[in-house]
Amino acid sequence: MMEQISDYLFRYKNHNFTKRTTSAEHIDSLQSFEIRDSDIFLVTYPKSGTIWAQNIIISVLERDSGLQAYPCNWKHMPWIEHTVNEEDISLRPSPRLFTSHLRPALMPPGLKNKRAKIIYVMRNPKDNAVSYYHFNCDFAAWETPKSFEDFLEKYLVGNVAGSSWFDHIREWHSERDQYNILFLTYEEMVLDLKAAIIKICEFLGKSISEAMIDQIVEKTTFKNMKNDPKANYQFLPKDLFTGQFMRKGKIGDWKNNFTVAQSERFDQILQERLGDMGLKFIWDTELPPQP
Ligand code: A3P
Repeated sequence: MMEQISDYLFRYKNHNFTKRTTSAEHIDSLQSFEIRDSDIFLVTYPKSGTIWAQNIIISVLERDSGLQAYPCNWKHMPWIEHTVNEEDISLRPSPRLFTSHLRPALMPPGLKNKRAKIIYVMRNPKDNAVSYYHFNCDFAAWETPKSFEDFLEKYLVGNVAGSSWFDHIREWHSERDQYNILFLTYEEMVLDLKAAIIKICEFLGKSISEAMIDQIVEKTTFKNMKNDPKANYQFLPKDLFTGQFMRKGKIGDWKNNFTVAQSERFDQILQERLGDMGLKFIWDTELPPQP
């Protein structure tokens, strides 16, 4: 059953979607979306470094194959859950590159054959929440949060587009054995971009020269992506999106937004929701990973 949550959000199959980007029928149709062995999927919870990872994956692949050219990265690596794509993306030549914010149950079931590849990027949830708060403030088609406090309450219960960060992380990690999946974190990309790019190359089975890897590092830095029209989303009309997709690009910005009480409460909920999973998060560039 489809349920209207607000002017811009609806809930379907236990997941929150934005009305202007998709429909219940389209989400259903993904259950018969045929997977090819050569498919590459990027999966993230929103605001985890999606367009950064898209830019890296496209850069890695276009260096050694005759990959078709597209005017910008989101057209090159479209979201499978969106209905705004201008063509039937399932008909594209291989290798097809796709992006998704969906949870495992809503993805094409053929992915469980372990042949197509999935790269999953996770970000520490306090920075994720702050980044998502700013995105909600800047996106005119979405409800503007009354305050960070107000947004944080919605984020904690999953009452935002893409639903709950906690569910997303738990489901993808606990079902990992069914997929051919590489887990990366936003923080490892910030701390050692070259090492993260090498991991991606190895997972995709691409052997690329050191010099080309260095070029990809250069192309995918925060500073250079900010000026790259294929990646920076500045093509969005200013009255629709008033902010910057490349906003701060840092680990630890949550400290500029969370009060001590909010942070302590968040820690407690994180422990309750995911404490059994043994995940380590990098909350700060100066500290080693904390449980
Ligand atoms: P901030 O809002 O904290 O700056 P997504 O692509 O999933 O929407 O994630 C957006 C976040 O990734 C933003 O975080 C954005 O600045 C950050 N980001 C994008 N490209 C980046 C890069 N090259 N280096 C570091 N962060 C990047």
